[in-house]
Amino acid sequence: MDMRELINKSRKILDVIYNGIVAVDHEGIVVYVNPANNRITGMEREESIGKHAMEAVPDAHILQVIESGKEMIGVRTKAGKSDVISNIVPVKENGKLIGAISIFQDITDIIKLNRQLNEAQNTIALLSERLNQVSEIDKNIVVGSNKEMHKIMELAIKASRVNSNVLIQGESGTGKEVYARFIHRHSDRKDKPFVVVNCAAIPDQLLESELFGYEEGAFTGAKKGGRMGLFELADGGTIFLDEIGDMNLFLQPKVLRTLQNGEIMRVGSNSVRQVDVRVIAATNKDLKSLVEKDKFREDLYYRLRVILLQLPPLRERKEDLHLFIKSIIIRVCRKLKREVADVSPPAMRILMNYHYPGNIREMENIIEQSVVMDENNVIDVDDLPKYLVGEKEEEDIKLSFTESFPTLEEVEKEIIIRALRKFRNKTDAASALNISRATLYRKMEKYNLLPV
Ligand SMILES: Nc1ncnc2c1ncn2[C@@H]1O[C@H](COP(=O)(O)OP(=O)(O)OP(=O)(O)O)[C@@H](O)[C@H]1O
Ligand SMILES: [Mg+2]
Repeated sequence: MDMRELINKSRKILDVIYNGIVAVDHEGIVVYVNPANNRITGMEREESIGKHAMEAVPDAHILQVIESGKEMIGVRTKAGKSDVISNIVPVKENGKLIGAISIFQDITDIIKLNRQLNEAQNTIALLSERLNQVSEIDKNIVVGSNKEMHKIMELAIKASRVNSNVLIQGESGTGKEVYARFIHRHSDRKDKPFVVVNCAAIPDQLLESELFGYEEGAFTGAKKGGRMGLFELADGGTIFLDEIGDMNLFLQPKVLRTLQNGEIMRVGSNSVRQVDVRVIAATNKDLKSLVEKDKFREDLYYRLRVILLQLPPLRERKEDLHLFIKSIIIRVCRKLKREVADVSPPAMRILMNYHYPGNIREMENIIEQSVVMDENNVIDVDDLPKYLVGEKEEEDIKLSFTESFPTLEEVEKEIIIRALRKFRNKTDAASALNISRATLYRKMEKYNLLPV
């Protein structure tokens, strides 16, 4: 049977297939094009039937297949007005080549959408950056599209208009200090001091005299004339009690008293002074559960949490990861006085899939490291800190090896996934695995790894 007969037998089916199809005989003469081909290429391809493929379809890969007798899978080319991806396979009968058939899919829309998406994302990042520049104060705060964050931002704005105490809870690096400063700088106390006290970093005894000050002779080593405490220093402004969950129980009633009536007493003194201080407290612990375990005073807890901002971890703000990445790149590059770097798609994939236990601070560190490593203004997988690239691989391996002994196929799939992750393109991945590109594609198909 020759190619024409073969095609004629299946013509009814080929005619209704949605993908474009071209078939040539063993000499490269076009014997069939289907209607979808015309739709995709925008040309009346029937005219090419009977002509040599060279003439009908310039730069046709199908001729290479005729020559080599080997399939070509996932070839990206232009066909008339469209971008297509084609699989071209030799057709053999009794081992003898009788022709080749190319089946291709229109990917113009996908490419266009991809480009539009990319442009849109860049525009969003740029606009949000501009918007932030309007007020110098907020230029580092990404709000994004996360609904919870919108509520938190609204609450923070409300908080800045009143004097109520604020408690900000959230994991490390989620922006507690950023929001505390935001509230202060939008309040009418903005021209007065914003005083930061890290309650975990200062030993308990010292913390008391730091907060409330001391009188001359209060203890050995006390300065002549005594010293003003941080509450007094913050008078008229805001005091930020960071890591409040670590504050010792003996100190808590003293702080509570200041919160209730604005009174402070310097260590070693028995007269009270009045201060007007707004308190914003923050903790990465769950203060409520500390209260339940009697590790934190309940009355102080309720005094502090008049307004409660609960900042979500970055891994719960997936929809905004892209915006964070772009915006932090802009910020980091400005800081390092470099041109704004791009991110390659594989590197972006890794950045988007990472779970950021250290939240936004960790992302900033990762991006700063990557920008420093980068030499060609495109952040690529090689520029990312090694633990990002390595970590997932190890997880995968553990997964497949601990549950039970893996099958050979599972291992093969695993290795292919890793090669695809590690190398920028399929050619490099295939050559690292010492197989042909076509084989790689076949295996990707087998293991459902082809992009849809
Ligand atoms: N919404 C945000 N947009 C952009 N950057 C942010 C945002 N929130 C925080 N950051 C950045 O993340 C880093 C950590 O923020 P911040 O110091 O406020 O976190 P934190 O919750 O106080 O962390 P920790 O508990 O470790 O003290 C900062 O460098 C800050 O600039
Ligand atoms: Mg902090």
